[in-house]
Amino acid sequence: MASLPSVDDSTPLAAQLSVDARRRIELHGRTFEKPAATRVITIANQKGGVGKTTSTVNLAAGLAQGGMNVLVIDNDPQGNASTALGIEHRAGTPSVYEVLVEGQPLAEVVQKCPDLPSLWCVPATIDLSGAEIELVSLVSRETRLRRAVDDYLQARVDEGLEPIDYVLVDCPPSLGLLTVNAFVVGREVLIPIQCEYYALEGLTQLLRTIEMIRQHLNPDLHVSTILLTMYDGRTNLAQQVAEEVRSHFPEQTLKTSVPRSVRISEAPSHGQTVMTYDPGSSGALAYLEAARELTRRGPVREPMRGDLVRARAGQDDEHHDRAAEQRPTAIQEDAR
Ligand SMILES: Nc1ncnc2c1ncn2[C@@H]1O[C@H](COP(=O)(O)OP(=O)(O)O)[C@@H](O)[C@H]1O
Ligand SMILES: [Mg+2]
Repeated sequence: MASLPSVDDSTPLAAQLSVDARRRIELHGRTFEKPAATRVITIANQKGGVGKTTSTVNLAAGLAQGGMNVLVIDNDPQGNASTALGIEHRAGTPSVYEVLVEGQPLAEVVQKCPDLPSLWCVPATIDLSGAEIELVSLVSRETRLRRAVDDYLQARVDEGLEPIDYVLVDCPPSLGLLTVNAFVVGREVLIPIQCEYYALEGLTQLLRTIEMIRQHLNPDLHVSTILLTMYDGRTNLAQQVAEEVRSHFPEQTLKTSVPRSVRISEAPSHGQTVMTYDPGSSGALAYLEAARELTRRGPVREPMRGDLVRARAGQDDEHHDRAAEQRPTAIQEDAR
């Protein structure tokens, strides 16, 4: 590091080059520390195009490059995560649909990612687009993915296979039953936020949904991580949005933000993540750094600070928990 020439980082380009050079040296061939137990992280934001899928696959690949065993669950009928990981997902391919709707064991639909030896993927096919409706009439419709994943993780241990260190679940851009299933399987939520004008809009509803799931279906669920995506440091707007997000979520927001990068957007058309498509690019280095940050900070469980959560999503917790105890949950209702 000391041998790096000091650079003039007064321009955004020079600053980026200097950050990239540092990351290239620091992160090359690095092995990350494994978590004590499997971390299940749901990547959610009901807005489309904010970088959910891109963050899911590239963080997953970054974690795998850092020596982690990683499972990606593509829970979006568009199947973009499957595409980016080079995973077969033509209609009829055994997928998350069969797991959710037909109760097929996860182990039977998991595929190995061709580019990275410790990365696996449960694909999504177009069949999943019907699941939102088909799930409505099924027993324990909210907890089907949770059960399948818990069984799979346990079966791996029973069979003497290496445990999965990270499960990353990609969500569709809605708050329907597919996303609810993803919130019930996850212990942590990672929210990608695009650094643009409407960034925080819709966040209130997302946080309220997460709070509702926490109270009724999954007491472990919490927002552990916020990742700023498509960050363009040359614009004041991006800087302002980033500052605002950091002020609302100081503990949750990763220090590493992901720059806008052409290489990131090109990679999926080659059936690859940017991590293998162009590992030396700014975007790949940023995702690798973000993956390392994720492993280092653990499942942050800070109470949400700031008025955004309490005032908009928040209710009086004590009052609310008591109400929740008296009310049957959706599962209990289903069981009747
Ligand atoms: N950092 C980035 N730089 C450039 N393009 C990006 C970046 N992140 C995502 N994109 C592009 O933006 C679009 C939306 O991203 P995507 O991850 O599919 O969002 P979502 O899953 O939230 O709908 C895609 O075309 C993707 O390639
Ligand atoms: Mg997506």
